[in-house]
Amino acid sequence: MDHFLYQNGILHAEDVAVPEIAAQVGTPFYLYCAATLRRHYRLFDDALEGMDHLVCYAMKANSNQAVLKLLANMGAGMDVVSGGEYARAKAAGVPGERIVFSGIGKTRDEMRMALIGGIRQFNVESEPEMVALNEVALSLGLVAPITVRVNPDVDAKTHAKIATGKSENKFGIPISRASQVYAQAAKMKGLQVIGIDVHIGSQLTELAPYKAAYKKVAELTKQLRAEGHTITRLDLGGGLGIPYERSNEAPPLPVEYGQLIKETLGDLGCEIEIEPGRLIAGNAGILVTQVIYVKQGEDRQFLIVDAAMNDLIRPAMYEAHHDIIPVVEAAAGVAQTPYDIVGPVCESGDTFAKHRDLAPMNAGELVAFRSAGAYGAVMASEYNSRPMIPEVLVDGHQFAVIRARPSLEDMINRDTIPEWL
Ligand code: LLP
Repeated sequence: MDHFLYQNGILHAEDVAVPEIAAQVGTPFYLYCAATLRRHYRLFDDALEGMDHLVCYAMKANSNQAVLKLLANMGAGMDVVSGGEYARAKAAGVPGERIVFSGIGKTRDEMRMALIGGIRQFNVESEPEMVALNEVALSLGLVAPITVRVNPDVDAKTHAKIATGKSENKFGIPISRASQVYAQAAKMKGLQVIGIDVHIGSQLTELAPYKAAYKKVAELTKQLRAEGHTITRLDLGGGLGIPYERSNEAPPLPVEYGQLIKETLGDLGCEIEIEPGRLIAGNAGILVTQVIYVKQGEDRQFLIVDAAMNDLIRPAMYEAHHDIIPVVEAAAGVAQTPYDIVGPVCESGDTFAKHRDLAPMNAGELVAFRSAGAYGAVMASEYNSRPMIPEVLVDGHQFAVIRARPSLEDMINRDTIPEWL
């Protein structure tokens, strides 16, 4: 659910009319609802009630400082995958003991930064990484708490580009080698093994793959304990999907996911961490864009909007569907017409939707792409020298620009012309 609803025929974000924001900020822009972010964080937190747990928001989904601060204020931990994300989490006031460091290619500099700044744990993904982390920790006179990310060889049944739990994927160590790797880790004085990590993919729309993976984690926990390791924490990753196409999608709810965790892992006495990103931020955001032209093609009509693939790359990159709605609600009974909705970038891939039915639209009117709060702004670029678009946060009656649109000069001045040219 979200807080983008029509009131008197005008799309609102909580209590603020979207056209009012568009008039002040200009289009295109990302718009987030604080109420939805809070609600979704709470759904996960409540789903794990009764178990010792921490919800570590996967901030790669949306790492704006205001979003991080809002979640940090609620007690959220953060899952980070780079030194940049670690620094962002710290800047938003997240204490080191609530930051988990994931990712297959952590550099020694990133390890050093997190060890000095404070870290809850590193999720280690290979033997060479383990060796490097041990060396860095020893050189600082510190001990790095770790889990090892295992690859359970489970098909997450999601888009191939975001599936991570099959043996052919680059992530984690094969679960069949876990015993060996934990034995190696136990000998390293700079590491303290505390648990197991798993993450099988993103935008999962069924619970069965989680169940298969978590059963393997339960077995592995018992096996490693029998081999003398202390396993007190299980990081179960993120990945729970959201309904991008409201008319025909109903992915499992966080409460059902929590129930599955309790059923498969609840008797192990471990502290549970989860790393949801998309479900917290995805439906908390929309992308608001304006129609520049309505163009008649040979056999179709194009709606050319002022947002493009550089602002929201998901349709071009994953053939992703985003519901698209007019900001001024169509009058009841108006016949819909199919449009190809495209941006101004000079690539045919810059197409948000094909044959999408909408009430007839005119130049100057606003449309909103739903479910754009996760993997939207964070994946944007300035391709075609289109400056990054602003982000706005609504909270009840108030709104604020939480990232301003750079001027053309700002954009150009990031480059330097060498004096010898
Ligand atoms: N934990 C780890 C280790 C991850 O790699 C990810 C996402 C998450 C947690 C959060 O997953 P979520 O709950 O958000 O599904 N850009 C793609 C999604 C990439 C996901 C990468 N890893 C998209 O736009 O669909």
